[in-house]
Amino acid sequence: MKKTRINKITDIISYLERLKEQEPSIDYAIDQNLSFFKNIQSVKDFWRWMRKEYPTIDEKRIKELSDIGNKKHDINLHKNLIKLERGNIPGLIKPFVNSLYRYIAKQKSPLVVAELGAGSMELTRQLIGKLLKKDYSYPLTFVSFDQSEPARNVAQINLSCYNGNISFHEIDQLTSAELKKITDKQSKHIDVVLCKNDIFKMDEDFENKQFDLCYHSFFKHHLPEGKKEQLDNIISKTSKEIYEYDGYQSRYGTLVQALFTWNHPVLMNGAVLSNSRYYKKQMLAQRARKENIKLFKSSYGLIYRGTYLRIFNKQ
Ligand SMILES: C[S@@+](CC[C@H](N)C(=O)[O-])C[C@H]1O[C@@H](n2cnc3c(N)ncnc32)[C@H](O)[C@@H]1O
Repeated sequence: MKKTRINKITDIISYLERLKEQEPSIDYAIDQNLSFFKNIQSVKDFWRWMRKEYPTIDEKRIKELSDIGNKKHDINLHKNLIKLERGNIPGLIKPFVNSLYRYIAKQKSPLVVAELGAGSMELTRQLIGKLLKKDYSYPLTFVSFDQSEPARNVAQINLSCYNGNISFHEIDQLTSAELKKITDKQSKHIDVVLCKNDIFKMDEDFENKQFDLCYHSFFKHHLPEGKKEQLDNIISKTSKEIYEYDGYQSRYGTLVQALFTWNHPVLMNGAVLSNSRYYKKQMLAQRARKENIKLFKSSYGLIYRGTYLRIFNKQ
């Protein structure tokens, strides 16, 4: 029997209450998530929560359910995120797919590319689709990193639509030597390697500039503040060029997205709480004067999503 929205919320609340007894170190994040789920049972409560409680969230201590949830929540998030990312509204990843496509098409040489926090790999699925459609003919290896096993399983199924066109490898701990073996004997144009290496040890696992390009989307905000810079430094060693894509804060955009994802509580949690962790638009606009940062606003009538693309380490 199909679960109603309220049943799903009740299940998540019971899960979080059990987790609270086991994980006192993330008490704050669990309490905020409990408050979120208790207040999305009616539009009236949600509206009050958005006005009174949401502005008080500490962005340094908050986590989304996807960071503290179980396997079932993770699968649910990625499956629903795929649907959202495939749609034209609000055009979540379209500008990024286009930018990556332009970069790859311009190179005209074999490339090894890393994607961090790849989730369902919907972004790369759309990118591969575009490359195949344009008969892209240079050897290309995508290495996908994600710490979540359910996400990697969803990615494998998501990419199965290209089974005849790509070679797929699942290697728990990828080494530089193993990656070279794959790139040296490419039987098809496109190889995809799924791995679970610790991204904070990429500079130990891989050679200097082993990746021509490294990219990530809707991932950076999941990292605590100090870790963001640490990751930038690590991938600057292992990658020639880096494309970072994420959202920027918008209270109005969040409200509209919340209503848009209302029937999918796990996705709604990601849409609303991620906004409190995003960089502020003004801060990005200031940095954009010195750095290569582009702000996007995908808008469809009332629905819009603000995202940015930061390109760095350019050689
Ligand atoms: C919101 S999802 C985004 C997924 C995908 N990039 C997209 O745009 O649909 C964030 C992903 O980052 C992964 N993640 C979070 N922290 C990570 C870490 N330290 N190492 C590897 N993956 C991580 C999560 O498992 C999750 O799949």
